[in-house]
Amino acid sequence: MSVALLYERSENDEAGVKQTAQQLGIDLKFIPFRKIALSISKEGFSAKTIGKDYTETFNQTSVVLNRAQSKNRRLQASYFMEMLGKKTLNTSQVEFTCYSKLRTLLKLWKANLPVPKTVFVPCDASDFLKNHKEIHNEKDIAELFQADIPLNDGIVIKADAGTHGKMIMLSKTREELFANITATKPSIINPIGVVAQKLFNKWFYDLRIIVYKEKGKQTICYNKALARAGFKDFRTNTFLGNIVFEAKLPQNVVNLAIKCGNTLGEGNDAWIFALDAMVNVTNKNHVTDDSLKAQLDLATQAYLPVQKVKADETRLTDFTAWNNKLEQTFNTYANSSSYQKIKNVIDESIENNKNSLVFHEANSCPEFWENTRLVTGLNVAIPLLKIAQSLTN
Ligand SMILES: Nc1ncnc2c1ncn2[C@@H]1O[C@H](COP(=O)(O)OP(=O)(O)OP(=O)(O)O)[C@@H](O)[C@H]1O
Ligand SMILES: [Mg+2]
Repeated sequence: MSVALLYERSENDEAGVKQTAQQLGIDLKFIPFRKIALSISKEGFSAKTIGKDYTETFNQTSVVLNRAQSKNRRLQASYFMEMLGKKTLNTSQVEFTCYSKLRTLLKLWKANLPVPKTVFVPCDASDFLKNHKEIHNEKDIAELFQADIPLNDGIVIKADAGTHGKMIMLSKTREELFANITATKPSIINPIGVVAQKLFNKWFYDLRIIVYKEKGKQTICYNKALARAGFKDFRTNTFLGNIVFEAKLPQNVVNLAIKCGNTLGEGNDAWIFALDAMVNVTNKNHVTDDSLKAQLDLATQAYLPVQKVKADETRLTDFTAWNNKLEQTFNTYANSSSYQKIKNVIDESIENNKNSLVFHEANSCPEFWENTRLVTGLNVAIPLLKIAQSLTN
């Protein structure tokens, strides 16, 4: 019985897991989860792509490392595999929680863990009556949000199941709030209602913290996080062109992240999360935003060669050579003086404000090869594979 990597498309993370499995001597099987027919009938189960029968691979698999990228497909994949009697990382129960930012926040809030002020209104921006007449709820929803979050503070409207900063919108005026609520049409990334948050007073970065548990072992939180930074937008997603730095985590933040992991993973033998967190920086230690912006501009220039390698298509034909080039270029960037200066500002600001941190999301299938691994030195493929192995016992 073995571990299988389930994937939609083989991207760098999947290639990285494959390379790491080879290095660790782990026999990893591969299960496509897109153009494959998964069939159940009284004759039993079969799995076939157009050219290949995967039924035997499924039968020989005891643990599934679920790397389906779309949240919906990932949830379906874990549930399907569990019904076939397999262990999954993460389980469908964990995927169900992480699928929704609101469900994640509810769990953390209930366990007294720090989260941003969040308001949920279950009705959609507009809907239809039985007689097909359209009714508009935008004004009422705006009023409900404003009653709980003053507009002056900033109201962030969020697609509950979104990623990459998509449909995360800031409103500071009534007009913006109205327009942003109107934009939240029910969709796969915002299945129901409207979620709003008070704009959290973070500085120019947020954090991505890796926390995980192998079966039968203590929870581990890696003490270096990925900081995603930039001043252009309140959203600091790398997908929007922001750049990355290593951030050192104080012990109390590590302990909090462990509590978050244990809360979200409760009832499961093993799990892994990338927690998104923000620090309320009230003590900037005399660093001005203008001086930082100048350093960030320099760091952005130093980061250009890294972005160029990332876009280089040779990764598809010679992953190892491409990866070596990526690591070399990244090291040059990380050794630049602007990188080091900004990293020090981030480290100091976390240390000085370590009691004012909130967690706002838990990612159950984080991308790691191109950012987290290079920045922090943690190859997440190693815990992923070790956790999967721990589940075979
Ligand atoms: N309440 C908030 N106050 C201030 N900034 C926020 C708030 N919520 C989110 N952000 C910023 O917006 C960005 C995206 O938010 P979030 O992480 O919730 O969603 P996402 O982009 O869909 O997730 P992912 O990180 O998985 O791509 C983050 O950079 C975060 O710092
Ligand atoms: Mg996020």
